[in-house]
Amino acid sequence: MALIRFGVSIDKELLQKFDALIKNKKYTNRSEAFRDLIRQELIREQWQGGRKIAGAITLIYNHHKRELVNKLMDIQHDFGEIIISSQHIHLDHDNCLELIAVKGSPSQAQKLSDSLRSVKGVKHGTLSMSATGEGI
Ligand code: NI
Repeated sequence: MALIRFGVSIDKELLQKFDALIKNKKYTNRSEAFRDLIRQELIREQWQGGRKIAGAITLIYNHHKRELVNKLMDIQHDFGEIIISSQHIHLDHDNCLELIAVKGSPSQAQKLSDSLRSVKGVKHGTLSMSATGEGI
């Protein structure tokens, strides 16, 4: 891959803010931070544009609520095509952490995440919108 250098004109204040931001995020130089910002936008575009994506859903819930566990299982079976892996971790006596890796259609991933997170009794849920690695 060819590496190209180019100049960027930016006002001083904005650059100072950028430098403070990337220092906080432990970047060692502007170039890597800038590349990551571009990739982040490309990934956002992949999600919005219906391109093939990858991501992860996390759920925190109390497994003593049997109906809730069954509901979560039913939903996952309905979305079997985009789920590539899932892991169940017993956090403590009551709470479970479920990690669901997805790959495929962004709208399906979003729909799966929304369906799971909105089930009554799910304490917290996240959708990490990432990429398959192609096109970024
Ligand atoms: Ni558990």
